[in-house]
Amino acid sequence: MSILHCKGHDAFYEALPQALLPLSQEGIVRILMMGDVIGRPGRKIVKSVLPQLKHRGKINLATINGENLAGGFGITQKIFNELTAPATGVDVVTMGNHWCDKPEVHSIRKSSNKMVLPQNLKNLEGVELIPEFEIPGSRRTLSVLNVMGLFAMKHEYNDPFEFLEKSRPILEAKVQGGQSIVIVDVHAEASSEKQAIAWFMDGVAAGLIGTHTHTPTSDERVTRKGTAFLTDVGMTGPYESVIGMTLSGSMPRYFTPKEKKPQEVSEKDLWLCGFLLEISEATGLTLAAHRLQYREDLQEWTLRTVTPPTK
Ligand SMILES: [Fe+2]
Ligand SMILES: [Fe+2]
Repeated sequence: MSILHCKGHDAFYEALPQALLPLSQEGIVRILMMGDVIGRPGRKIVKSVLPQLKHRGKINLATINGENLAGGFGITQKIFNELTAPATGVDVVTMGNHWCDKPEVHSIRKSSNKMVLPQNLKNLEGVELIPEFEIPGSRRTLSVLNVMGLFAMKHEYNDPFEFLEKSRPILEAKVQGGQSIVIVDVHAEASSEKQAIAWFMDGVAAGLIGTHTHTPTSDERVTRKGTAFLTDVGMTGPYESVIGMTLSGSMPRYFTPKEKKPQEVSEKDLWLCGFLLEISEATGLTLAAHRLQYREDLQEWTLRTVTPPTK
């Protein structure tokens, strides 16, 4: 593993090319996967950082999880439009258990193919179809899987493991046939479910992130077969909070539960978190992956790079 740690945008962008694979190497596709973006502060940091990061890092395509974009609960058309506008640069929005907190999600889904709902939602027509996106600068398409875990979820979902068992051979043929690159957002509370799915997709998915806990884990890796994996990428949003919500609204829920306080998104200590994959155009699998964090208050960038084990 190597670590790049920089203060300020200029220092980071100057050092970044040396931390990435040389683009002279034939056929590298860079995909940035981000997790839950939380409310207005999360949107603010994405809008201020992503355009330049995508440009300077020569990133082909960027994804976010959008379930908490609107005040922490769901997504609206206006917010979806802002983030997926070319000036911001989000190319795909996956979702999670808060997918339908705002009813507009249904019209967004009808009007744009950039919205991906968890494919194991119950009773929603066509949701199980795995979408394919064009990747600028690549001959391959991007197949995006988004599945809900089962542990500690309020609503019921179809079995994600059964869904993946059916989907894996189809996706494997697409990867091996040069047609697709596969990425996965597993939206789950349990690390065990995320890790089991990652190993099940080993050698088929180029990258898999966990989302939902809003808390980054430090177990980034690329397997021998070229699947990059991180149990939870962490939220992009305010870290002086309880999973994104203010301390004044959150703490009474635990310590004085009779005292009902409104839940509001915190605005303090913003971080942007992501997992940047460098994928071989030839194999559709990952050669190097980078856990990326930017902390706005400190103006600090950290990029932790991992590659497949050599033994
Ligand atoms: Fe979330
Ligand atoms: Fe969630």
